[in-house]
Amino acid sequence: MRTKRLRRALVAGLAGLLAGAGLTALPGTAHAADTLASAAAAKGRYFGTAVAANHLGESAYVSTLNREFGSVTAENEMKWDATEPSRGNFTFGAGDRIVGHAQSRGMDVRGHTLVWHSQLPGWVSGLGANDLRSAMNNHITRVMQHYQGEIHSWDVVNEAFQDGGSGARRNSVFQNKLGDGWIEEAFRTARAADPNAKLCYNDYNTDGVNAKSNAVYNLVRDLKSRGVPIDCVGFQSHFNSASPVPSDYRANLQRFADLGVEVQITELDIEGSGSSQAASYARVVDACLAVSRCTGITVWGVTDKYSWRSGGTPLLFDGNYAKKPAYHSVLSALGGSGGGDDGGGDAGCSVSYTKTREWSDRFNGQVTVTAGSRPISGWTVTVTVTPPQKVSATWNGSPTWDSSGNVMTMRPNGNGNLSAGASTSFGFTVMKNGNSAAPVLGGCTAS
Ligand code: G3I
Repeated sequence: MRTKRLRRALVAGLAGLLAGAGLTALPGTAHAADTLASAAAAKGRYFGTAVAANHLGESAYVSTLNREFGSVTAENEMKWDATEPSRGNFTFGAGDRIVGHAQSRGMDVRGHTLVWHSQLPGWVSGLGANDLRSAMNNHITRVMQHYQGEIHSWDVVNEAFQDGGSGARRNSVFQNKLGDGWIEEAFRTARAADPNAKLCYNDYNTDGVNAKSNAVYNLVRDLKSRGVPIDCVGFQSHFNSASPVPSDYRANLQRFADLGVEVQITELDIEGSGSSQAASYARVVDACLAVSRCTGITVWGVTDKYSWRSGGTPLLFDGNYAKKPAYHSVLSALGGSGGGDDGGGDAGCSVSYTKTREWSDRFNGQVTVTAGSRPISGWTVTVTVTPPQKVSATWNGSPTWDSSGNVMTMRPNGNGNLSAGASTSFGFTVMKNGNSAAPVLGGCTAS
């Protein structure tokens, strides 16, 4: 094992040098809680991203990855078509590059995925039942043993249920040829292959309470009650306007956690931009932090430009690796601070929020704006409240409002000039109307 790790670290170290990554700090070692990884770690969570091996030679990609993230998932490189393209011939090169890079930077690795109906090489679909069973078990065993001790959690089975209201199993080669027991068999084989890895079931459109998540819930409850080894459930959390963050997201995570499994947010991305995207991201982070068995969050990519949904700009860094409002709201929801430096330049200011007073029907909030490493002559900060909350008063700033009345854009009211590192603050009163949620900050832009 040590030899394998050393070899991977050397390979990754070389790639990192070529990418100029040696100039960046390990996650969490630069400043306290001013990166996603360090802020999440301070809350006992990991914050990860999907990584594609073919981008590990791009310096801005690597420096952003190294600075911000504490866990990685191979976006495609550990899937069946990548690891066993023909029967019994295993190819781990691209996956090993990702693991080596992670190890050289002290990051954890999630494993994705062992048994999935998609990205499955053609030879698997042609097998008869007995052959398919032994091919599935052999695949799980060989891949897990290759990465033994290097992966904290594996998506053993991915997306085994149909969309729609039926709650039925997906019509896959595994389901059709092996019957309902294939999931149980996959988990038992996985436990035997690497007893120390956490074994997860992973799916999408299971983020709120619905027929599909009910079906997964019943599966997990059944597996747990019969002693079948399952340790975690992954909630992919791919969101867009047609499929927004559900209002019962936290409650759904909690009901799975109450079955005695960890819950992990495994492939988070949210299409959109600006303060509404930022507010949705913060809701996801808040939900994970509210569930003690929610152990970590992985976003499905570093930058919008390489997202599988690039048109939807669903990630935390834009195509130039600049931090988006969503980045700042995630960092703030994680309890982190700062984050004014986007790696390619100085965003000029940073913000932090405190609740200064609270009554039964309202609370006062204060936002502190701090200039970065140069003086500024103005700043813009967005503050989003959760309906039916309403802001009833503001001070020390000039607010404007979006059409919903939920997003307040605050600019200076005589307090725009700040020398480098200096701070000012503005305040506001939020009428709760039954909801005590903290407002979401959309980051700070200096002028
Ligand atoms: O690497 C080849 C390249 O050589 C070729 O020229 C090109 C032409 O199509 O294809 C490239 O492969 C693509 C691969 O991504 C790498 O970019 C595949 O076509 C493409 O299908 C594949 O898409 C991946 C998708 O899973 C496949 O189902 C996405 O990158 C990946 O983000 C996505 O991830 C899934 C999770 O595994 C499971 N949950 C949903 C999630 C989003 O769909």
